[in-house]
Amino acid sequence: MHRKFLIVVLVTLVLLALAGCAGEQGEQGPAGPAGPQGLPGPAGTDGAQGAPGPAGVDGLSYEPPEFVGSDTCAECHADTFDIFMGSGHPYKLTQVVDGQPPEYPFTEIPSPPEGYTWEDISYVIGGYNWKARFVDQEGYIITGDENATTQYNFYNPDLDMGDNWVAYHAGEENKPYDCGSCHTTAYSPQGNQDGLPGMIGTFAQGGIHCEECHGAGSLHVNNPMTVDMKIDRDSEACGACHVRGGSEEVDASGGFIKHHEQYEELFQGKHIAIDCVVCHDPHAGVIQLRQSGEQTTRTSCENCHFKQSQLTKNEKHGRVDCIDCHMPRVTKSALGDPEIFSGDLRTHLMAIDPQQIGQFNEEGTVALSQLSLDFACRSCHSPNGTALDKSDEELIDMATDYHSLPVVEEPVEEVEEGES
Ligand code: HEC
Ligand code: HEC
Ligand code: HEC
Ligand code: HEC
Ligand code: HEC
Ligand code: HEC
Ligand code: HEC
Ligand code: HEC
Repeated sequence: MHRKFLIVVLVTLVLLALAGCAGEQGEQGPAGPAGPQGLPGPAGTDGAQGAPGPAGVDGLSYEPPEFVGSDTCAECHADTFDIFMGSGHPYKLTQVVDGQPPEYPFTEIPSPPEGYTWEDISYVIGGYNWKARFVDQEGYIITGDENATTQYNFYNPDLDMGDNWVAYHAGEENKPYDCGSCHTTAYSPQGNQDGLPGMIGTFAQGGIHCEECHGAGSLHVNNPMTVDMKIDRDSEACGACHVRGGSEEVDASGGFIKHHEQYEELFQGKHIAIDCVVCHDPHAGVIQLRQSGEQTTRTSCENCHFKQSQLTKNEKHGRVDCIDCHMPRVTKSALGDPEIFSGDLRTHLMAIDPQQIGQFNEEGTVALSQLSLDFACRSCHSPNGTALDKSDEELIDMATDYHSLPVVEEPVEEVEEGES
């Protein structure tokens, strides 16, 4: 063993000496093959298990989300829920429980139609702002005999009309409630809600609730960070209900535009390019903001039409708002006064034709695409209006190129104390 080692050392030394005398060193050889793989590293510390992903859509194990109701959403979205419960959507169709009249944020229905008690009513239709209709215990809308008045109209301070009962399809028997597609959440045309024969279709909740717009929420509720809810900002989503038949024509009758036609009204002008939710908070609506004196829309006309807000030919219109002329109450839900050209809903037709006096086609069945001076001006400028009556010519003259002169500030008259 020892000898062998010595020999190896000797031979090596001899070789090295020889190499030393052997002239120039040769080029470096190629790199040898890679060595074997090293040992695996130490085990990592055990992290907490991540949240499971959303259910897959493989057609075998997928369970569609279910409707859970707005009260469940309120557990985490309390602020949105509180605002939402002041708006009209959730009150569109309200069940009568224990013979007690439903409660609304701003209104009170004085009684059910004559001849009925609350025990006879299964649901109230509307009741939030304009009018209320009633569903009987068979699910039919109450219409009564030929002389009956079964629709209640709320008092309207702008018109000084209302707080009265009017006929609704009087004399028509067994009028089914087939309005659910626009008045309820998760409507299905099959079946009868609560087994009531007059109620066409079924729904998860009466009224338009969170999940009507955002989709069924059970998966999101269990897993809000991984399962998103649907958000659709397109006007068409609102237009599914704020529409009457096709969107090309704005239907009219009795000297007013019929209600729920906001989508086709916008369709007539350039504002169809602007989504409803650019102007409207979908959770707050309009009525509650009007009630509390807040700005009713998210953005104002002036923000996009600065030029027009600075130019007007008439310095006496200082207090007249853009919407007084451009969104007059051409539409009627419950009440309207033809003498002052005022219904009870503002139109979303906004372009004014300064030459056009009348608003409708000859038969009175379709509204023209632009606003007429009758509605844009005569809600004030008529014999019973709040401003002086004006002839067609006077109105046309003022309306033409209306926004063409700079606004002149009216001097504020100082009222001396002690004066009447
Ligand atoms: C357990 C609490 C919880 C409940 C219950 C809940 N949410 Fe949420 N929701 C959240 C959280 C947290 C977020 C924010 C998630 C994020 O930032 O990804 C959220 C976000 C949302 C969003 C916005 C999603 C986005 O893409 O920006 C909508 C819409 C929504 N929820 C609707 C609802 C509706 C409708 C219900 C009732 C069916 C509901 N939520 C119930 C916790 C909840
Ligand atoms: C009429 C349709 C509609 C209803 C009903 C509705 N939402 Fe929304 N929601 C929207 C739209 C549209 C948006 C898109 C954002 C926007 O423009 O405000 C939105 C946005 C949201 C968001 C995202 C954050 C925000 O506020 O912008 C949350 C959270 C939400 N909704 C929760 C709810 C809850 C909870 C309810 C019921 C209490 C509800 N929504 C009812 C249409 C609706
Ligand atoms: C295409 C959708 C749609 C259909 C179908 C529909 N409505 Fe409506 N309804 C609306 C909209 C949108 C509003 C509110 C906006 C408006 O009046 O312009 C409304 C408002 C009402 C109001 C007033 C609510 C209040 O709080 O004052 C009553 C009452 C009403 N509808 C009853 C009915 C009845 C009864 C039927 C069925 C015979 C019906 N509607 C069918 C969309 C619809
Ligand atoms: C499923 C049908 C439906 C959809 C979708 C819908 N609405 Fe409505 N909307 C109604 C009905 C019905 C009423 C009347 C409610 C009442 O009077 O109780 C109404 C009332 C309103 C009102 C007046 C009441 C208030 O609270 O000020 C506004 C504003 C409104 N909707 C805006 C919108 C906007 C914006 C969207 C889209 C984000 C939308 N709606 C989507 C059916 C719908
Ligand atoms: C988000 C921006 C925006 C807001 C808010 C807005 N507009 Fe417009 N408006 C437009 C655009 C864009 C057009 C089309 C381009 C143009 O003619 O200047 C338009 C066009 C118009 C027209 C011309 C007629 C037409 O339909 O082509 C009138 C009138 C008008 N707007 C009035 C109003 C009034 C009144 C308000 C407030 C209720 C308002 N606008 C709010 C963006 C807006
Ligand atoms: C350019 C802005 C704008 C757009 C876009 C818009 N609105 Fe409006 N909307 C308004 C204004 C302004 C009012 C009146 C507010 C007031 O009376 O103070 C209003 C009022 C309403 C009202 C209540 C009417 C009344 O007299 O009580 C409803 C319902 C409504 N809008 C629905 C819609 C729907 C649905 C869409 C989309 C299809 C839409 N709006 C698009 C500006 C807009
Ligand atoms: C909200 C109410 C209101 C609306 C809407 C309205 N006006 Fe006026 N207008 C007034 C008031 C108030 C005066 C000043 C007192 C008066 O003449 O009665 C006035 C004055 C006038 C005058 C007289 C100007 C002068 O120098 O003597 C004309 C002309 C006129 N308006 C035209 C119109 C036209 C055109 C429209 C529609 C495009 C219109 N107004 C819409 C309230 C209104
Ligand atoms: C007294 C009624 C009246 C008021 C108030 C009014 N407008 Fe007008 N507006 C008109 C008339 C009339 C026209 C049509 C002029 C024409 O075609 O010659 C018009 C036209 C317009 C146009 C179309 C473009 C143009 O300049 O002709 C826009 C945009 C507009 N107005 C925005 C507004 C805004 C924003 C406000 C509020 C700051 C407002 N208007 C207030 C009567 C009014």
